Amino acid sequence: MTDLTTTYMGLHLSSPFIAASSGLTNNLDHLKELESCGAGAVILKSLFEEEIIVELDRRMNEMHSENYLYPETMEFYEKADVEDTLTSYLRLIYEAKKSLDIPVIASINCVTPHNWPYFTKYLQEAGADAIELNIFTLPADISAPGKQYEDNLISICNAVRQQASIPVSIKISQYYSSLAYTMHEAAKTGIKGITLFNRFYSPDFDTDSMEIIPAAIYSNPEDYAHTLRWIAIMSEKAGCDLSASTGVHSGLSAAKMILAGASAVQVASALYKNGISHLKQMKKELSEWMEDKGYETIEQYKGKLSYANANDPAGLLRAQFMRHFAGK
Ligand SMILES: Cc1cc2nc3c(=O)[nH]c(=O)nc-3n(C[C@H](O)[C@H](O)[C@H](O)COP(=O)(O)O)c2cc1C
Repeated sequence: MTDLTTTYMGLHLSSPFIAASSGLTNNLDHLKELESCGAGAVILKSLFEEEIIVELDRRMNEMHSENYLYPETMEFYEKADVEDTLTSYLRLIYEAKKSLDIPVIASINCVTPHNWPYFTKYLQEAGADAIELNIFTLPADISAPGKQYEDNLISICNAVRQQASIPVSIKISQYYSSLAYTMHEAAKTGIKGITLFNRFYSPDFDTDSMEIIPAAIYSNPEDYAHTLRWIAIMSEKAGCDLSASTGVHSGLSAAKMILAGASAVQVASALYKNGISHLKQMKKELSEWMEDKGYETIEQYKGKLSYANANDPAGLLRAQFMRHFAGK
């Protein structure tokens, strides 16, 4: 009999499968279904500061066109609108906490530095068990050196940590000039987890209409390798727990992430493509794989193939490239 329980950021999880932040985690019915299909935790869809700003902007424009320009009225609507988006998010946290037994992790994505701790306060008070900061920066500014993005990340971590008494994790992209250093510095701020990696919305071109269109938004089962490498390189060194995101579509890819040292795996695309009940299948596959290998608990094999523990860790770095591609 296999035991799939694990811990992530000090939270007890009944299984290592976390429902990743997405449209599947933005209403109570889905959250209940995710729990009943075996999710060990849920990460709510991110609260986007931009959503609030756009909503506020629309409301302001309406008021201008209606000539409601008295400062008191502006203030009233401003407050009412901000509270609208935020309140429904806080209600979801509150209701999820009331209805579910598994940890409920809130997620925020801000554009203004001081709003990260501002929203954190509300999410924590609504009862979230932890907070994931969805840090979504594309370093495409030629006047900004890498250090600027890294310092920005660290200052967000520090600000939120000072505000939060619940565990905080960051979900980051691979676009840091020294990913290992940045992750280590981030962990020193006291954050408890890092999720690798965020999957950016990517553009594609329509060569008939000559327009920019969205590329495929879901990952494929073979997309896990990049995350696997970084989990393996960093799991012993990061200084906090890691969770794997991108390309986890099966029990076997989850097993690989745990072998690399992940404390948990996050799943989104596989559930969009196959339905939420696919979680049951993934759990079954993981249990069967563990039975086959003689593992009863996650701890028995967690990190067995990490950079620190693997027999041939060079396979995670450049040597593999040389062996397979040199001379071809
Ligand atoms: C439709 C959709 C919506 C998403 N929304 C969010 C979001 O609000 N916040 C977030 O941090 N990640 C979001 N993600 C990213 C996922 O949480 C996940 O990190 C990414 O899809 C990679 O995992 P996967 O390969 O299992 O899909 C979204 C992904 C999808 C497909």
